[in-house]
Amino acid sequence: MTAIDEVKSKLDIVEVISQRVPLQRSGNSYKAPCPFHQENTPSFHVFPDRQSWRCFGACATGGDVLSFVMKAEGLEFGEALRQMANQTGVTLPRRGQSPQNETAYKINEDSRSYFQRTLSSAQGASTREYLSERGLDKLAIEAFGIGLSPTDGESLKNHLIREGYTPEELINAGVVRTGDDGVSRDLFRGRLMFPIRDPHGNLVGFGARTLDGSEPKYLNSPQGPMFDKSRILYAMDKARTDIRKDGAVIVEGYMDAIAAHQAGFKNVIAQMGTALTEFQVEEIRRLTGKITMALDQDAAGQNATLRSLDVVLQNFRTKTVNNQRTDGSTRLVDTDPRIIVMPPGQDPDEVIHKSPSTWTQLVETAIPAITFRINAITGNGDTVSPDGKARCVAEAAPFIHLLSGGILQANAIELLADNLSVPIDTVKASLSRPSVNRRSRRPEQPRSAVSTASPFVKLDHDPMEEYCLQLILSYPELREQAGGLRPEFFTRHENRELFTRWLDVASELNKDNILTQIKRNGDDEISNHLDLLLEKPMIASDANIRSSEIAKITSRLEERNLKAQKSEEVKMFTDSPPDVEDDENEHVLKINERIKNNEGLRRGQTKIISG
Ligand code: CTP
Ligand code: MN
Repeated sequence: MTAIDEVKSKLDIVEVISQRVPLQRSGNSYKAPCPFHQENTPSFHVFPDRQSWRCFGACATGGDVLSFVMKAEGLEFGEALRQMANQTGVTLPRRGQSPQNETAYKINEDSRSYFQRTLSSAQGASTREYLSERGLDKLAIEAFGIGLSPTDGESLKNHLIREGYTPEELINAGVVRTGDDGVSRDLFRGRLMFPIRDPHGNLVGFGARTLDGSEPKYLNSPQGPMFDKSRILYAMDKARTDIRKDGAVIVEGYMDAIAAHQAGFKNVIAQMGTALTEFQVEEIRRLTGKITMALDQDAAGQNATLRSLDVVLQNFRTKTVNNQRTDGSTRLVDTDPRIIVMPPGQDPDEVIHKSPSTWTQLVETAIPAITFRINAITGNGDTVSPDGKARCVAEAAPFIHLLSGGILQANAIELLADNLSVPIDTVKASLSRPSVNRRSRRPEQPRSAVSTASPFVKLDHDPMEEYCLQLILSYPELREQAGGLRPEFFTRHENRELFTRWLDVASELNKDNILTQIKRNGDDEISNHLDLLLEKPMIASDANIRSSEIAKITSRLEERNLKAQKSEEVKMFTDSPPDVEDDENEHVLKINERIKNNEGLRRGQTKIISG
């Protein structure tokens, strides 16, 4: 039994969930209004025999006890596991990361103060002038720990060795690098240094800007388990509190974030030149339901930017945030991510320095992300021919479905119709499907029970999920064919987490880079599981076979996921008291409709989710 299974086996899902949600018994299962979205009729169900939960309403998600804790408390998988392990007295295998990271953090701190001293010294005169030309004041320079790396390439290393660190430790921390000639030198030379901290304030790396125009413009600490651009949001350590209060504003660069903070906009964080990942969006969602992204006008239509936006749209829907109420209770917030398209040729840094009030206005008048997304689709596509119009509708459909009803969705449909010069009803019709009257029919009993979710299953691993992961992890070129895979297809936690991390490693093509990024947390449960998977033998096959295999597995996993949903649905029907009131019946039918719709969505058909 894995540690994850052990923790789960000691928990009772009903007990855990009822500590947070007022569950009502309903036959063999339990129900309540869903804690993850706003509703009056209970569509959140807990199934003790399967030890699972599911929201049949707007969220249309579900999972096991760990995924509930993750979602309810806004925790990462590892955090939820540790919390539950503590509660159940299970000892988890020790994480190997800590001692090594501690040393690296210290080395980074020593380096930071060395860079700061260099900036204050005679050597730093022209850089200090540069900073003042760029409008940075002393307080901001100090608060962000900005410094200057010496040009000679060895003084930092010598200094740190004198402080007692070994050359290996310096290389591990990423401040020293061994060149092709075998000599190790300071990695950063003659650059403006921006220390980068994780949300807890640990100094995980540096961004280093050129001062003489040399390439690259920014040199960052080596990507690795400690410094991972796809996870870190610059200035998050400083912005957390204000993000909780005022929502998050995301800008593109270090200089933008610093300018914002200097001007008192302390809810601003920066991505670091990469598309936003699910991980980053999740991190923000834990703090707030309000997110505004500033997009450079030149970049606004570009793929990387649209990818960030899609991650936000897909992951930033409805969520629980901590209320400021003193009783510590939670409230539900509908989210509506927004976009600021910057005036041409200007970035937030310039706007803020020139006129803070213009910035305030830009933030306040940001447009809904869905509007921006639809405009991007119609702006880039063929809006003239009937075929082109249909393609635009199909491309916009998944985003419109995400809005699941309401004014936002109505507005989005109207905008799309308008951009395509097509009547609203025509767009609606092609988004929805002919409705089937299923009033009198009961859902069919699924032919086979879902083996992995059944409580009788003895296997503590899932061969199909593992084979799928083996394939995509070993052959990065399968990413495209694996596009239909979703985290919820993976029933085993360690697999789902591995898959989610793999998804986050956006468009990386080098296998080793993918693996290091996935292992970013050091030697934890997930990394161990990854190693096990990679050690498992795989039948050799050629590229064609592999791509047909991945297609087959995707559809089997999808099928399985649907069946699991259905059997929960069946359960709900059988558990409901026979004399359900009419509106409850109505509700159940709606749920049924929704599941069918989801099924359609997964198959790539275009339909509208109503209500
Ligand atoms: N970036 C990077 N590597 C590069 C270029 C950019 O990591 N070669 C990241 C940095 O985090 C940078 C952000 O992308 O802050 C935005 O890039 P850019 O707009 O070019 O830089 P600014 O921070 O705006 O710097 P400046 O205003 O000094 O030009
Ligand atoms: Mn800039």
